[in-house]
Amino acid sequence: MKKFALLTAALLASSAVLSAADVAANWDANCASCHGKDGKGATKAGRTAGVKDFTDAAYQKDFTDQKAVDQIKNGMKDKDGKEKMKAFAEKMNDDEVKAVVAYIRTLAAPAK
Ligand code: HEC
Repeated sequence: MKKFALLTAALLASSAVLSAADVAANWDANCASCHGKDGKGATKAGRTAGVKDFTDAAYQKDFTDQKAVDQIKNGMKDKDGKEKMKAFAEKMNDDEVKAVVAYIRTLAAPAK
């Protein structure tokens, strides 16, 4: 439940009109196939794509919110130009992208 309290606070701060439940549903529908419902990326597709563990606080520090926003909008290709993560710019508006980044931040366990 702490996760949802944090997320609600983050959403209020960004004055988004999305509820925590909307964001979680968006995550489950569009992201969980690779990143896992829990963000660990321990799904079959996640392992194939090589996703990293969003519950790892060190990995979370590795990318800025802006970088995350860019990647969600534009997707990601590997060095051979093969799509690793698809672009969501047409599926989500800016508020939805920001909200899902806030959601990702709630997945990290506190630094050890
Ligand atoms: C087809 C599988 C797939 C799906 C679906 C997917 N991702 Fe990813 N995602 C990846 C891969 C692969 C990486 C890169 C891991 C690496 O090499 O750093 C990644 C990385 C990321 C990163 C880290 C960016 C960085 O700079 O390190 C964010 C943030 C992210 N994904 C958000 C999302 C969100 C939000 C969704 C749903 C809207 C989503 N992803 C859906 C495969 C996926």
